Amino acid sequence: MRSPHLVLGPGDDAGVYRLSDGRALVQTVDFFTPIVDDPYDWGRIAAANALSDLYAMGATPLTALQLVGWPRDDLPFSALEEVLRGGADVMATAGCVIVGGHSIDDREPKYGFAVTGVGEAGELVTNAGAAVGDRLVLTKPLGTGIVSTAMKAGACPPQVARVAVETMTALNDAAARTMKQVEARAATDITGFGLLGHLREVLLAAEVAATIDQSAVPLLPGVDELLSAGFYPGGSTRNLRSVRPHVLGDPEEDTLRILCDAQTSGGLLIAIPGDRVDELVASLEEEGVTAAIVGDVVAGPVGTIRVD
Ligand code: CO
Ligand code: CO
Repeated sequence: MRSPHLVLGPGDDAGVYRLSDGRALVQTVDFFTPIVDDPYDWGRIAAANALSDLYAMGATPLTALQLVGWPRDDLPFSALEEVLRGGADVMATAGCVIVGGHSIDDREPKYGFAVTGVGEAGELVTNAGAAVGDRLVLTKPLGTGIVSTAMKAGACPPQVARVAVETMTALNDAAARTMKQVEARAATDITGFGLLGHLREVLLAAEVAATIDQSAVPLLPGVDELLSAGFYPGGSTRNLRSVRPHVLGDPEEDTLRILCDAQTSGGLLIAIPGDRVDELVASLEEEGVTAAIVGDVVAGPVGTIRVD
């Protein structure tokens, strides 16, 4: 039986549990295997990624529980200390208190967090409110899946890797604050399903369609070259397969692949009424956040995306 306190369950970025005073707890968990070589960076990325679902809903992070899987016989504890230091640094930046955690012996290292945030129940931004006439704004460049696949293969130019790590460790906090001020209608964060996969969730929830202006979508430097060289993650291939039947227009295959690339700690995708988009973009840029108007919410066959 569904609890009367449960406002939003699985299907949105995080679960929402209403408290008696009009506020709501917002909770989510994310952990994964290493995606970069440097343990400190991996820790930072895992923390930023776990917090992202809270920011996507406009919630303020409060507490975090740390989840660790570590092959204690195969990897030094000094590396784990670096992972934990990275996680702690990002949580401190976010003002989120690590209150505990649990670690187990594991064949493959895993790291992440269960995080809890809070917000006024009526002011949380869900992924369901988009309406025809809204514009779509993306707050980070795409390509982290392609870049980290090349990094794992030892084939990523260091300056390309550096920019990707900067992007993945950046918090979506300023983007979240700003979209609430400008009264965004819907938002989600771009992670494992890629831009088009997460966009489809937004479209299905609101029973609308969208257009994407491919030339407006920001990419990490080096992504085109790495894709041409054959670096493309398995998760992105699965995204592409599931999204393809719903894509209209005639985009190049490589364009579609980038739009479906599975992201780690990606940006927010925000739906905002057309007459407020300039205000949103200006405010985001004032906060130092990348802000690109990448498309529109339109009427049309529900869940379809025209790529122009
Ligand atoms: Co999410
Ligand atoms: Co998540």
